[in-house]
Amino acid sequence: MTLFRTLLIATIVQTPSLGQLQITHDQLIAVDLNGYVVEIAPKDSEEARSIIEKASSQSPPVVVTTLPSGSFLLPTFVDLHLHAPQFLYLGTGLHLPLMKWLNEYAYKAEERLDADPELANRVYVRLAERLLEAGTGAVLAFGTIKSETNLILAEVMQTKGLRGFVGKLSMDISSRPTYVEASAGASLSEAEMFIRRCREIPIGPENSERLVHPVVTPRFVPTCSDELLLGLGKLVKAEGVHVQSHLAEARDQVDWVRNTRNAEDIDVFDRSGLLTSRTIQAHCTFLHSPELTRMQASGAAIAHCPLSNAYFSSQPFRLREALSAGVTVGLGSDVAGGYQIDIMSAMRNAVSTSRMRDGSLREADIEAANQPSGASHTNVSIEWKEALFLATRGGANALGLLTGCLKPGSPFDAQRIDLTTENYHGVGALDFFDATKDFEIDEDAVEKWWCLGDNRNRRSVWIQGRQVYNAEV
Ligand SMILES: *[C@@H]1O[C@H](CO)[C@@H](O)[C@H](O)[C@H]1NC(C)=O
Ligand SMILES: [Zn+2]
Repeated sequence: MTLFRTLLIATIVQTPSLGQLQITHDQLIAVDLNGYVVEIAPKDSEEARSIIEKASSQSPPVVVTTLPSGSFLLPTFVDLHLHAPQFLYLGTGLHLPLMKWLNEYAYKAEERLDADPELANRVYVRLAERLLEAGTGAVLAFGTIKSETNLILAEVMQTKGLRGFVGKLSMDISSRPTYVEASAGASLSEAEMFIRRCREIPIGPENSERLVHPVVTPRFVPTCSDELLLGLGKLVKAEGVHVQSHLAEARDQVDWVRNTRNAEDIDVFDRSGLLTSRTIQAHCTFLHSPELTRMQASGAAIAHCPLSNAYFSSQPFRLREALSAGVTVGLGSDVAGGYQIDIMSAMRNAVSTSRMRDGSLREADIEAANQPSGASHTNVSIEWKEALFLATRGGANALGLLTGCLKPGSPFDAQRIDLTTENYHGVGALDFFDATKDFEIDEDAVEKWWCLGDNRNRRSVWIQGRQVYNAEV
C-alpha cells in the first residue's frame, strides 16, 4: 500500500516538449514517502478523492494543502555547468581573456579551497543555499583537484538535499606550477578513488535517496595530456559515470589546442572515448552545424552558458542549429565565468543572445543580396517557452534525470512560485492591475514572471519530495 508524504492542490506549469507550455489548474499532486509523484489528477476527480481519503486514514494522517490561486508549481531548474570553488570570486576580474582569467582568478580560487577545508565548507554551504533559493534543484559542478575538497562539496549537497553531480578536476598540465597533478598516472588513480569515496557518502536520515554522484572531469584539452584523457575514457567506460568538460569555448583556447595538439577539441575528446551519451560539454561556441550533428550522433549533451559566452567566447553559441540537429541542450550559469547564479538569468540571456544573432544574420543576408527581401536564412531566435524547457527538462535530459517535469513516476522536484499575495497584489517586481479574486494563472502571467520574476517569488523548493527551501514571509 502506498503511503503518502505530501498532497497538494495547485496549478502546474511545465514544458512537456521544446516550445510547448502547459498550464493545468486545480490538480491534486500526490507524493509518496520516497519522494515520487504517484498521481496527478483533477482535484474533483474520483482518483483525487480516493487518494485524499486514503491519506487521511494513514498514520499519521496527511492532509491536503491547497495553494492560493496566484501560485503555481514548476519543476526545479537544472544548472548544467558551474564551477563550485569559483563561487569564492563570483563577479571579479571579468575584463581578462579566458586563458589569463583562469590563471589569475579561477586556479587561485581552487587552490585556496584545496588548502583550506574550513573555507571550502563555508563556500560550499553558502553556494548550496544560494542555488536552492534560486530554484536550482540539480547542478553539474566542476570542483577542484583535491579529492577531499570535492567530498566536502558532495557531502554538503547531500545534506542540503540538492542533487549534485560533482567532478573532481583532472589536470596534469597547468599554467600555474602549484596547481597541477603530478602525472597522468597519479591523476587517474585519484579520479578512481574519488568515484569510490563519493559513492560511499551516507545518504543521511533526511533523504530517501542518494542525490550526489561522481563525474569524470578533465578540465579541458589544454590541461590534460593524451595519456590522461585516454585513461579517463577507460575509467568512464568501466564505472558508467558521467563526463563533463569544456569544448571549443574561446578563440584563444581553440588556437591553443590547434597549436599544441594540431587537432580540434572534438577530435581529441572523441578519440579518447570521452564523447558518450553520458557526456556534457560546456559552451561549444566554436562548433558549426556539421560538428553539432556529430555531437548529436555521439549522444553527448551541451551546457549552454550565454552570459559567460558574452565575456569569454567572443561569439554566441549556435543554439538553434544545435536544437535543430537534435542535440540535448541545457543551461548553465558557468559560475564564475558567468556572474549570475540564477538560471532565470541564463534563460533570459539565451533568448536575447539568440535574437541579436538572428538580427545580425539577417543584416548580413540583406547586405549580401543588396535588397531588403534578401533575408534568406532560417530564424535562429528562440522564445521564452523554449528557454524554460532548456532550463528544466533540457538539463534533466542531459543528466539522465526524470526531473524537469511533473508526472506520475517522476521525483517530486518542484518549486512554488507566488505571483500574487492573498490580496491579489503582485509579489516582488510583479504588478497585475487586473488581478481580482477570479485571478487565474495564464500564459501572460507566466510570461510576466519569466521576464520580471526573481527570488522573491519563490516560496518553497522540494527535491525528491523533501522540502529543502522555504522562504521567510
Ligand atoms: C523568429 O522566431 C522567434 C521565436 O520563435 C519569433 O518570436 C519571431 O517572430 C521570429 N521572427 C520572424 C521574422 O519570423
Ligand atoms: Zn566552465
